[in-house]
Formats: sequence, C-alpha cells, structure tokens
Amino acid sequence: MKTAAQSLVQIPLARGLPVLGNALELANDVAGYLTAQYKQLGPVFRVRALQREMVVLAGVEANLFYAQEGKNLFRSRDFWQEQDEEFGAKRSLISMDGEDHVRLRKVQRPGYARSALLENLPTAISIITQEIAGWPLSQPLPALYSIQRIVTEQLSVIAANHSAKEDLDTIITAVRTILATRVTKQHPGVLRRLPGFRKAKARFMEIGGEVIASHSPSLREGKQPDLVDALLALHREDPDFLPASDMMTAVLGPFIAGLDTVASTTAFILYALLKYPDLAQQVTVEADELFANGLPDAAALRKMDVTHRVALEAMRLWSIAPALTRTTTQEVHFAGYTIPANTDVIIATTVPHHLAEYFPDPEQFDIERYSAERNEHRQPDAYAPFGLGPHTCLGQGLAEIQMTLVIATLFHFAELRLSPANYELGFDPVPTLSPDKNMRFTVTRLRHPIQS
Ligand code: HEM
Repeated sequence: MKTAAQSLVQIPLARGLPVLGNALELANDVAGYLTAQYKQLGPVFRVRALQREMVVLAGVEANLFYAQEGKNLFRSRDFWQEQDEEFGAKRSLISMDGEDHVRLRKVQRPGYARSALLENLPTAISIITQEIAGWPLSQPLPALYSIQRIVTEQLSVIAANHSAKEDLDTIITAVRTILATRVTKQHPGVLRRLPGFRKAKARFMEIGGEVIASHSPSLREGKQPDLVDALLALHREDPDFLPASDMMTAVLGPFIAGLDTVASTTAFILYALLKYPDLAQQVTVEADELFANGLPDAAALRKMDVTHRVALEAMRLWSIAPALTRTTTQEVHFAGYTIPANTDVIIATTVPHHLAEYFPDPEQFDIERYSAERNEHRQPDAYAPFGLGPHTCLGQGLAEIQMTLVIATLFHFAELRLSPANYELGFDPVPTLSPDKNMRFTVTRLRHPIQS
C-alpha cells in the first residue's frame, strides 16, 4: 500500500519559485493562475505558497465531484477556525460541517433570504437615494467605498436592525485585517497588533453587543423577526448548540456579508456599464421602467433582464470568490489520483468560467452568453460564482436582487461617468478580488429629483 507522501508525490506539481512557490501568482490572480495550471497539468495538481502545499481540484469534473461528495469527503473547519478564534468563538456557520452545519444554516436561511430584502424595498431604496443625494456633482468618488456604504447599510438594517453608517470605516478595518491575516493569510499577523486594528475590532465587538441588546424579546415584540432574532431564539432554546461565545460571529454576519462580495461585484458591474455605453443605455431604460409607477415591486425587479445579465457576466469574469478551500476528511480518489486524508485542498470552482469550451472567447465581456438561445451559465457545473456543495452562498438570492436594485436605482436617479474617462479596470486582490482604489466615478447630473 502506498503511503500518504507517496500518493501526494504522484500528483503533478505546478512550477514555482523556491520558498515563495506559487504564492505571488495565487495572491494576484487566483482564477487566472489556476486556469493556466489546469490547462497544463489537468484536473489535479499541487501548488505551493510559502511553506504550505495544497492540492487543487479543477475543471467541471472537480465541480461535479465536489457538489456530489463535498459533504462527505471534505471539511471546512480548518480554514476558518482562526477567524472564529479572533471573535472568541469555537465555530461559525462557514466553519461548521455535517448535521450541525445543516441545523444552523436552516435557522439563518430566512434572515438572508431574498424575501428579507423584498419585504423592505422602500427602506433599501431610500438608503441608496439618500447616499446619492450626498454625492457632490462632478467630483470623483471612490467606486468601491461608495457602494460599500450603501450595501452594508442595507444588510445591517435589514438583517440586524442596526445602522452601520457611522461605523463603516471601523468595520472595514476590522473585517479586512481579520480576513487578510487569519483566513487568506495574504498579510502578516503582526498587523493585528496595530492600535488602529485593535481599536476597530473592539468597536466592532461592541456593535455586536449593541445588536444583541436591542433584540431582547420585549423590544422586538410585534416586529417581523430578522436574522438576529432567529439566532437569539436558537441560543435560548439550545445554548449548548449555540453558546453566547459563538453568537458574535453570527450576529456580525450582516455587517461582513456584503463588504467584499456584493459591494465589489456591484463596483465591477458599474465599471462594465460605464465602459460600454450601449449596455448603460439599456440598463437606464430598464431602470426608468422599474420606477415608472413610483416605488418598484418584486415582480418589476424580476423583469430587469439586461441588468441581470450584466451582473451574471461580471460574476463570471471577476469572481470575488474564485475557489473554495477545504481539508479532506478521508482518502479521496479523484481523476486517477489518491489524495490522502487531512490534505489541504483548493476546489477551483471558477476555472470553467475561463475555458473556451464552455464560454467561447472567455475573456470577452459578453452578456449574450445568457440569452435564452445560449444560456451558457446553465451548462452543468460550469458556472459557480456563489460556490457549490454544502456551503453554497446562503445569500445568493438576496445578493442578486440587491445588486440589481442598487444598479437600477443609481442609473434611474443619476448620470455617472468614470473618472478619468479612460480608466481601465485594475484589481486589488486583498482580501478578495475588488476593483482597485483608482476606480472612481463622477455624478454628471441627477436625472430625477430625490425626495428627502
Ligand atoms: C455577489 C455576492 C456574493 C458572492 C459572489 C458570494 C459568494 C459566496 C461563496 C462562494 C460562498 C461559499 C464559501 C465557501 O464554501 O467556502 C458563500 C458563502 C456564504 N455567503 Fe455569500 N456571496 C455573496 C453575497 C452574500 C450575501 C449578500 C450574503 C448575506 C446576506 C451572503 C451570505 C453567505 C453565507 C452566510 C455563506 C456561508 C454559507 C455556509 O457556510 O453554509 N453572501 N458566498
């Protein structure tokens, strides 16, 4: 019988620098790098980053395999437990596996459902319009940050009944430092000793305490239960399952969930629209139809066809979560190779996004891929911006509606331009892919008056 080390050595190794290994390529362009290696080495290969080695499973075959076997053969805990520790928790939804994970996911589902946003549309729209009203005309505004202000406020108000506006900078510092030093490890842990981070984290934890205090049953009587109500009810019912120490990560979820996901993706959508004026024009027509009879409703939002297809294409080309990280729970047999138990693994979920056999001319931005005739995203296991398997994004439906709503409201009320007009998309890969800080826009005029 082969030893674990013998099995691993048989798996092709991606070429890289001594010590650094493939760290630089992995840090800068995960999807591009993994796609290039997949083409060269096939669906299983090893990569090295600093002293760490990981086995990559890539291609539609890997996506299918993980979707079917993810629950049994892989665990999530190892990659997320440091983040839990940072919050004083033993475990959280993303770090849990098995039946416990299924139980907590079920409790969190309604709080992150599409309906949570649809039932609060006037609030969600007013958060956008109030933000637009504060934007000075003809002055460059930072794209990602301006959208983070909207998205995080919407999620924290809707899922936690708490405004994050005054604390946004603090939240960004805390969340990004924790992710970059504890999860993705792109930055050294010493950053967590800086006074700026310590202050930000202390305030973030304080916000968690305030949110919990404001959800005592007496204060919430008669109100529609939100995510935090559901978590507190579970804690009261079964404190061994969800102890007070594990509440913080769950309760702070709404403040974290959109920052590096919906916000970055919406900024990418904005880039595409400002780069391709014909798309912007079609989206503006849809947006005006949406608001034609006053406040839009759910049915009208669902009709936003071009806007939705631009979002699908932005998520294909610029996936904010290009791969999943897991550990094998037992010996895994895939594509002719044996991966020993307890091996760190990357499931390269978005490699097929960049393969011409599924998405012809894959680096081209083309929303016709999603026309009824082509439906390229519906090919089995080829399109996975929201992940796959047991931890598939719980906020997918909400995120899609939120992005559509933000873009439609922006384009209905404001005329926007890139600043400078010839800006070309650049990326910041830390902690997850987002447009770089040079992406700015200006409001050239308001198209419709905004009521305060
Ligand atoms: C464009 C926006 C978004 C993208 C592309 C995205 C992507 C993802 C991906 C790839 C995962 C799987 C991570 C893994 O398996 O390791 C995930 C998990 C998750 N997402 Fe999202 N996400 C987005 C927005 C949101 C929003 C808005 C929410 C909440 C309102 C949310 C809540 C969650 C939760 C709770 C999980 C963990 C699920 C579990 O562990 O069972 N996401 N997301």
